[in-house]
Amino acid sequence: MTDARTLNTSPSITRLSDYEPYPYVIADVDLTFELHPTETRVTQRSQVRRITQGVTSIELNGKDLTRVSITIDGVEVSEDRLVEIDETLLIRQVPESFTLEIVTQLNPKANTALEGLYLSNGMFCTQCEAEGFRRITYYPDRPDVMSIFTTRIIADDQHPVLLSNGNPISDEVYPDGRRCVVWHDPFPKPCYLFALVGGHLAVQQDQFLTMSGRTIDLRIYVEHKDLDRVQYALESLKRAMAWDEQVYGREYDLDIFMIVAVSHFNMGAMENKGLNIFNSSCVLANPEAATDQAFQRIEAIVAHEYFHNWSGNRVTCRDWFQLSLKEGFTVFRDSEFSADINSRAVKRIQDVNFLRSAQFTEDGGPTAHPVQPSEYQEISNFYTLTIYEKGAEVVRMIHTLLGPVQFRQGSDLYFSRHDGQAVTINEFIAAMAEVSGRDFGQFMHWYQQPGTPRLQVDVEHDPQSGRLQILLTQKAPVIAKDNSHAPYVIPISYQVIDRESGQVLVPETLFELTEASASIEHQEVMGSPVVSVLRGLSAPVKLEMERSTHDLAALARFDDDGVNRWDAIQDLYIQAIQLLLADPEAGIQPQLADLVCGLIADPATIADPACLAEMLMLPQDNILWDVLKPADPQAILAARQSLRQHLADSGEAHWEDLYKAMKVDGPYEPEASAIGRRSLAITALGYLAKTRSVDEILSERFDKASNLTERFAAYRIARSDGSAGLSERLSRNFLAEAETDEVLDLWLSTEAMNESTATIDRLHELLSHERFTWTNPNRVRAVLGTFANRNVRAFHTPEGYRLLADAVLKLDAMNPQIASRLVMPLCQWARFTEQYQASMKAELRRMIAKDLSKDLYEIVSKSVD
Ligand code: BES
Ligand code: ZN
Repeated sequence: MTDARTLNTSPSITRLSDYEPYPYVIADVDLTFELHPTETRVTQRSQVRRITQGVTSIELNGKDLTRVSITIDGVEVSEDRLVEIDETLLIRQVPESFTLEIVTQLNPKANTALEGLYLSNGMFCTQCEAEGFRRITYYPDRPDVMSIFTTRIIADDQHPVLLSNGNPISDEVYPDGRRCVVWHDPFPKPCYLFALVGGHLAVQQDQFLTMSGRTIDLRIYVEHKDLDRVQYALESLKRAMAWDEQVYGREYDLDIFMIVAVSHFNMGAMENKGLNIFNSSCVLANPEAATDQAFQRIEAIVAHEYFHNWSGNRVTCRDWFQLSLKEGFTVFRDSEFSADINSRAVKRIQDVNFLRSAQFTEDGGPTAHPVQPSEYQEISNFYTLTIYEKGAEVVRMIHTLLGPVQFRQGSDLYFSRHDGQAVTINEFIAAMAEVSGRDFGQFMHWYQQPGTPRLQVDVEHDPQSGRLQILLTQKAPVIAKDNSHAPYVIPISYQVIDRESGQVLVPETLFELTEASASIEHQEVMGSPVVSVLRGLSAPVKLEMERSTHDLAALARFDDDGVNRWDAIQDLYIQAIQLLLADPEAGIQPQLADLVCGLIADPATIADPACLAEMLMLPQDNILWDVLKPADPQAILAARQSLRQHLADSGEAHWEDLYKAMKVDGPYEPEASAIGRRSLAITALGYLAKTRSVDEILSERFDKASNLTERFAAYRIARSDGSAGLSERLSRNFLAEAETDEVLDLWLSTEAMNESTATIDRLHELLSHERFTWTNPNRVRAVLGTFANRNVRAFHTPEGYRLLADAVLKLDAMNPQIASRLVMPLCQWARFTEQYQASMKAELRRMIAKDLSKDLYEIVSKSVD
């Protein structure tokens, strides 16, 4: 194993303001790979032409490469014309137009960083985004250099399936028994979209007929043992292809589209042109080996990567500061797809919950940055919730402001005008501006300023005259240090309902707040008005609004906007937790108890089980820590558990009926309505388990359920609220029957999360489990990621922090990307009370004194001085 770290004494910073176009065009690239586990040879032949006058040298990027030879027009380049510093190789005195040939040698087996060419269970595969191509050959590793790639792959008979981008153009067997396959991709692309796979793989094939009548050959390649888990991804792919035709008018372009599943993968999946590579956990599913949540995630990711074919590949990014151009837009596209095929309200609630708990946290912490950052040290650290989720929210706001018709015109214009180009966020906005006639000058602050803006809402109502005044004030994010923070354009959707009857008093209206503050007035509003504001979370802001228990209960009962209904009850939960923190004996607000009883016994709310299940979910720790700063995580955990117990007791008479009413008949189907029913059934059973023993039900469900969702739920509930005997039995059996890695990871994460059994010793046991391995990111995330993010009791202790820091240091030597993601929970120290802060900072300081990767160094050094 090689050490993947590089020394970091003075980290170099890349700045958007330093952007300069590349002075050469590389029209064609021919790559030849002679695959070998430890000595792979790569020959690159490129046609290079200068386009900027006065330049005489050419800059390429390379990392951890063994240089075999470099020739220009067939003549070896002498060493004195080569300067290699860090990751750039300068070749001096090059002609205006030439053929560059570079031979490098790689060791895929030693590549534990999983960037460039590596081996996963004996399968060769690549990951090039963002800057992995430089680990394959010397090349301008930047997205604005676009070329036509031809790839020749030569391998022994142990690797019969040899894949790359584009179309296969030749396939032959050499006299010595080796195979040689050639692929040609006619679409010019940046090297981050290059991919290669070589292995002993099984395939499932299908076809898709496009809107213009072309037949596309669809293939999913997996390890042979996994062939019975590809069908759902294939169906999802076809649904995504049809959706992009219908909603965006976008047709697939090549004749073949391939997906490959690999076990070792840093991210979820990658949109390489014509050859998407997926983390096996994001593609493999069948009813016995995947939960409802896994099915939904797979559908969304398959769609996301497919959608990149237009938003990312045909039109790509000029530089990595434009990352949200493709990621934010594509997340918006995949979430609309999921909303269209499942439940729009539920999808939006889940997205809003994720945004608020995770992205708002990032946006208020030490690594906060704008959707379009202006500088970075390590680009891998910028695949953040801000780029993705906030970026998607910003696109959503454009959609809200323009409406679906103009938005579609804007996207059509963007795709047609920039097809084949590498562009910036400004080009996307310019297309939207052009079709709508709007000025987006002020709107651009969403891209340029970090932090979550706050919206203060004050309501005044005169019952006599019926005059209703809504005062809106936008406030800069808490992290904004000076007065330089400019106001945003905030689309605010609102509606007014009557508190007692739920009747709509003012129908849904969209207001655009552009000034620091504004006032909206309505006359003759009679009754007791309650304002439902920021409906559907119409802008990614934090709402600051005094709302009485009574008003919130009315919204939770009557609001016809799913997000705001859910949000109202979440706020009531937060109030309850605050009361319990102040006085653990206090109990909960009677209105809350009544509300919950009312909801779970009301046929109208039960008619939308998935939404009701979301409403019965308590706010995540992250949200509570933000409201209750500085937070004592252990005290908050106790208050949250107490609230859960109170709610369980309040609804005692109904949980069992609710559970039984949600029974799903017929064979398992991972479709929205059945998923919603199972989700509510499991939620009800979880509450029921807090009021009496449900061992019998759990045991029966575990043994007899037709699907993993219910089996897994039975195991999980038994682990937290079952008898010790049952808890142990189900844990043992779940593991014993965990044939796939994905089910194993469910077990590992459940064990790592369990607040009663997952002590530090138990964590060490999991880390030395025979099926655990440090080199597979999925195992690492299942144990350590879950521990740090979901197990408050064990993690938020000096021993817990130490365990994470030790693990991060160990991982940093193998896989810096994974290390720098895993360390994040420690970097949030500023939200906690003194005693926690001190232990967290001590660990960060201990880490920063070591020799860290560039990735980890950037994150840790931004978090502690
Ligand atoms: N382009 C990314 C994958 C990627 C990111 C590769 C960073 C290398 C470095 C891909 O399109 C993506 O965004 N994947 C997400 C899943 C998606 C559904 C948001 C991921 O991998 O988590
Ligand atoms: Zn993406």
